[in-house]
Amino acid sequence: MAYETILVETRGRVGVVTLNRPKALNALNSALIAEVTSALDAFEADEGIGAVVITGSEKAFAAGADIKEMASLTFPGTYTADFISSWDRVSRFRKPVIAGVAGFALGGGCELAMMCDLIVAADTAKFGQPEIKLGIMPGAGGTQRLTRAVGKAKAMDLILTGRLMDAVEAERAGLVARILPAEGFVDAVVAIAAEIAGLSLPAVMMAKESVGRAFETTLGEGLRFERRLFQAMFATEDQKEGMAAFVEKRPAAFRHR
Ligand code: HXC
Repeated sequence: MAYETILVETRGRVGVVTLNRPKALNALNSALIAEVTSALDAFEADEGIGAVVITGSEKAFAAGADIKEMASLTFPGTYTADFISSWDRVSRFRKPVIAGVAGFALGGGCELAMMCDLIVAADTAKFGQPEIKLGIMPGAGGTQRLTRAVGKAKAMDLILTGRLMDAVEAERAGLVARILPAEGFVDAVVAIAAEIAGLSLPAVMMAKESVGRAFETTLGEGLRFERRLFQAMFATEDQKEGMAAFVEKRPAAFRHR
């Protein structure tokens, strides 16, 4: 499929989506979100894909929702169209998805990164929720996911002042999983995704689902959910292969089923 606002490629078992509106610092307009949704639909259906990376350019992962597109919106229009709800596709994606963030991840860009399972940052990354400076507030999970990731103190600081935080502060605060050098950044993020994609896909997907449940439920329910999925894993071919490989002192050859 030909896309206009993103680049899509497959590297081994990794699907890579590169946001590609360089003149607008990858501002997230409705065309781009529709294309990301379509690329994710294709990757989810493709048995050859075990993990996905969403990344941007060296200068910007994404500088936010497209302000020029939003400027003339009205409340009845946003309400009836349920504006922003279409972004949900990323958080509903069932395979692991890594945000590879270099440069700016602001507003909706930061929110898009937070919909991913983990954020890997280049040392050039800058995160922020500057919506307040536009007379609005975050609307795609910023007040919720950022608060869960970094706690109330820093979330309030970032959201009420609109200041940016660099990669080191973001990692210290718990938003970022790892910081990597900007040089060779995308290849290094794809290598992390390839490592995950080489493992048992059912195990990886169940582990992802179970971690996600921690944000949705009580500890008791979460532990029961985890235990059921853990028990179910003994029905997979990959569990037999993984444990046999350990005993036989050889690398596991997962069949992803
Ligand atoms: C539309 C944007 C944009 C955006 C940048 N551009 N961010 N266009 N929407 N969010 C455009 C600029 O208008 C400009 O185009 C070009 O990209 C380059 O940007 P500059 O500002 O010239 O670059 P620079 O001076 O390097 O500054 C970079 C920046 C700044 C600090 C990131 O662009 C900036 O502050 N952008 C807005 C960040 C922001 O407020 N994000 C939150 C958006 S609201 P032209 O054609 O003029 O050269 C949001 C709401 C989410 O995300 C709610 C739920 C979805």
